[in-house]
Amino acid sequence: MDPIPAKKMTTVLVIDRDHDEILKFRKLLIENDYQVYAADNLETAQKVIVEKSVDAILLLLRHPDQEPDKSIIALRPKKEDPGIPIIVILECFMKDVAVSALKAGAADFLTFPVESKELIERLCVQIRMFSQQSKPKFGGGVKRLMAKLLSGLFPRSSTQEIIGGRYEKLGRLGIGSFGEVWKVKDIEEIPPSIYVAKIPLSKNFNAKIEKEARILERLSDHACVPKFREIIEEKNKTILIQEFVVGKTLFEVIERELTNKEVESIVIQLTDVVAYAHDLEIIHRDIKPGNVMVRPDGTITLLDFGVAKELKGKTFSETVTGSRPYMSPEQIMGKSQRRSDVWAIGVVMYVLYTGMFPFYHEVEKILMDMILEIPPSFPRKFNEDLDVKIEGIIMKCLEKEPLKRYPHAKALKEDLLASIPDYGKTILPLYGLED
Ligand SMILES: Nc1ncnc2c1ncn2[C@@H]1O[C@H](COP(=O)(O)OP(=O)(O)O)[C@@H](O)[C@H]1O
Ligand SMILES: [Mg+2]
Repeated sequence: MDPIPAKKMTTVLVIDRDHDEILKFRKLLIENDYQVYAADNLETAQKVIVEKSVDAILLLLRHPDQEPDKSIIALRPKKEDPGIPIIVILECFMKDVAVSALKAGAADFLTFPVESKELIERLCVQIRMFSQQSKPKFGGGVKRLMAKLLSGLFPRSSTQEIIGGRYEKLGRLGIGSFGEVWKVKDIEEIPPSIYVAKIPLSKNFNAKIEKEARILERLSDHACVPKFREIIEEKNKTILIQEFVVGKTLFEVIERELTNKEVESIVIQLTDVVAYAHDLEIIHRDIKPGNVMVRPDGTITLLDFGVAKELKGKTFSETVTGSRPYMSPEQIMGKSQRRSDVWAIGVVMYVLYTGMFPFYHEVEKILMDMILEIPPSFPRKFNEDLDVKIEGIIMKCLEKEPLKRYPHAKALKEDLLASIPDYGKTILPLYGLED
């Protein structure tokens, strides 16, 4: 396929054999002021890289062409090249393929369905990170590739490795909308302990980090909230240091189907911690499996109060935030309230019990319309063993009209326990240590 020239300066090369998909990405990127080239095979892609100045590559890996390492190495033909971030997009999540891609030098990966906002955020973060790396005189691309091969999933940061003179960066856990999340070691402690550092992208996000810290402190008496440790000011950035929770995200845990009892074990803890936050007039606004850590013993921690809101006496907050498939109708319209968290818990319950989203479409606009207009299918359609009463509770959480939902998570929890008195009574480990 011929490169598709567009208008602005920062240039992204999209590689996929599916032309329709390329067009979708192209549209999104152009809307976000990127110049776009496209290629439907590696040869064309290599030509574009040699002839044009490309700032980032989106490489779509489709099942079953699972040799990401070869594709990635083929995309780095010039030894003197300081490197272009390659973001791999997997057709479906395959752990081995993701690991192999990152080991071969990919900067990041995403899995279909890709959220537009997340893609654009990750893209601009990667372009910024790569452009800030000083260009070595020779062999930079190869050296960096080797470094990444050695460091595997956790590329080393281009900035300093010790935060606040005492927290040594060990590995990056994630890149979010406001910055990076790192696993760090406190080298002043004997023996050294492990923590998590949340580092904003720029000082513009300092206030958000400070707010997250304040919320963690306010919620510190609840066992399902990561413990706040300290705030560090460094290079004009406010860095949050918090407890490192050992475990897997719920997103990883649900790679396998959970039994109804296992789901109860998660849901009861989740409703309990959200109810605690609601009591303190805090709404989370981004409840989803990727923000829940599950420890080996089955206890959970709710992460990421990065977009949480202190209502301060108000009932509503007026900003659009949250992750699309978990967003309530009113959140789409820019208003969130406790009942929006109740909705998100309803979506999580639906996903855990049925393995399906109540609302889903790859095209964001259609997904939004579904959330706003279309009633969800009854969960028992996908899980016949589900108790009718639990089905009713999920459907109540997913009422379009907030007033028809539970007013807060406590009411939801109480209804779960009233319907099934021993609901979630036993906290179950959800994976073996060997997993
Ligand atoms: N306290 C923690 N303990 C262990 N892992 C964490 C912790 N906080 C974050 N993580 C990991 O980092 C990822 C991103 O962190 P999160 O707080 O959700 O920020 P964001 O989504 O804004 O990047 C999480 O999905 C989780 O895998
Ligand atoms: Mg998160």
